Amino acid sequence: MKISRRAALKSSALAATALALRGPRLFSQASNTVDAHIDIIPGEPVATISPEIYSHFIEHLGGVIYDGVWVGRDSKIPNTGGIRQAFIDTMRAVQAPVLRWPGGCFADSYDWRDGIGPAANRPARAGFWGQQDSNQYGLHEFMHTCRAIGCKPYLAANMRSLPARDFYQEIEYCNTPAGLTPTNSASKPVVNALAAQRAANGDPEPFNVDLWGVGNESWGCGGNLVPEEYAAMFRRFTAWVPSDNRLPLRFVAVGPNGDDVDWTRRLFKSLYSNSERRHLFGLSVHYYTSGSPKAFAEGDALDFNTDDYYDLLTRASIMEKVVTDHWAAIGNSSEEGQPKVKLVVDEWGAWYGKGTQLGPEYNLSQQSTMRDALLTGITLDIFQRHADKVAVANVAQSINCIHSLMLAKEDKFTVTPTFHVFQMYLPHRGAQAVRAEFSAPAIRNPLANSPIPVGGNSYTGSLEAVKLLAGLSGSASISATNPKLLTLTVVNPHIDRPVAAEIGVAGASVASYKGTVLAEDDVHAHNDFAHPNAVKPSAATTASPSGGRVVHTFPAASVTTLQITLT
Ligand code: AHR
Repeated sequence: MKISRRAALKSSALAATALALRGPRLFSQASNTVDAHIDIIPGEPVATISPEIYSHFIEHLGGVIYDGVWVGRDSKIPNTGGIRQAFIDTMRAVQAPVLRWPGGCFADSYDWRDGIGPAANRPARAGFWGQQDSNQYGLHEFMHTCRAIGCKPYLAANMRSLPARDFYQEIEYCNTPAGLTPTNSASKPVVNALAAQRAANGDPEPFNVDLWGVGNESWGCGGNLVPEEYAAMFRRFTAWVPSDNRLPLRFVAVGPNGDDVDWTRRLFKSLYSNSERRHLFGLSVHYYTSGSPKAFAEGDALDFNTDDYYDLLTRASIMEKVVTDHWAAIGNSSEEGQPKVKLVVDEWGAWYGKGTQLGPEYNLSQQSTMRDALLTGITLDIFQRHADKVAVANVAQSINCIHSLMLAKEDKFTVTPTFHVFQMYLPHRGAQAVRAEFSAPAIRNPLANSPIPVGGNSYTGSLEAVKLLAGLSGSASISATNPKLLTLTVVNPHIDRPVAAEIGVAGASVASYKGTVLAEDDVHAHNDFAHPNAVKPSAATTASPSGGRVVHTFPAASVTTLQITLT
């Protein structure tokens, strides 16, 4: 039954694609006509959706830390211990699970010891992004930020310019309990010197950091290494670190830029080239969508036409290929008996040129529109569809940088449309992802003429052009506490066309549903300091289920969350 159903769905998707290629006129404009189908199959679970796929990232870059997160204890801007209150509140509003720091490329020239101890004694240093870092925001301030938000810290350790000793001592400083500690030997309990130093610096309680990035983009700013060189460093850095059973550490190895599977295959081959057990939780993956199909980190966040819009969303959808390609590359090369390695997509987002920067000193800040909200939905749905593979993902970056949820400048503050999508996707976290088949006419990408530029700050490569964008995409999950509650998130990328989709659930009937939708007449719509509520979600217009199914109309250029009660 399943196979023939799949085959039927596949052929209907192919037919739909063929229809789309003949022309958009074939699409129904009337909302009572069905344009598309969404078939949810609860009997085909994918995995529990890790709450950590909705995680965040802040780096000492432009106005991210200084002004974005850290306003200082004496600031007139509302703050908790120097941390911008609006940043804390917004991160709480999206229930941020994990926050990554201090970089990015910044991490590999950062000495964590510069940012501890009395603030007045901390040295100002040159930072990676051509800035001077006052070090007023350091390890303790970051941990206080995480505590205020109620999230876990994820530290990116410096592997390029500090020795392995600094790495394990940073772990020791963060995680060793203060006071008398058993020695696990014949000698008496002792006071660990690094734990005592942490306590003297104001935090007797350990920070309990379990998630550690071992370097960042080591193929680029993190050292210009080849995979075999990085693998050797990873083995050496992680061969021994202070740890106990109380807090199993999760190490994340530097993965590819974009879809560079050669890096991943060679890395894993080399990592497992002797039989010692590897301490490896995840492979970091970075995939940014450039604002321009021609060059990396170009294009304008606000000034784009319909072709640019479809092209950006098509290129964002490549995240699915990146995830499946690297999952396969890990699977092909990891060894029997070694821990299962997950994907940690710890940098993603749309990256534009400088046109909408908040100011010269706010490097890589950019505006964020409804187009970016759709990119956010497409991306989170990909992670959810691949809940068995993606364990952690960090949007880059939370405030004042690239694909941000917040923009802040001095006492001015706004959330972006992306913030709303993060909030709308909250019901998925911890739920059981289940297979959902979408069949809708695809959209031809008008700019799929040349290879796609990919990269981060430090490397550029390219991928093959992609010609089609799914006419409707999304993901579904069943609540962990209520098997009759299904969450369905859907992105309709058609810029000016609502899509009416018949939604059915295999083996169950739709009893009722409610929803939230983010949609604006113009995909350029965005929030700014003067209009912080220009874009915000509203209640979705619902239809009456009939015969156990429902036809719901997804507005043009929208992101929708439906909560469906089943019988
Ligand atoms: O997020 C900005 C930069 O992009 C990060 O520092 C780096 O890791 C990537 O190239």
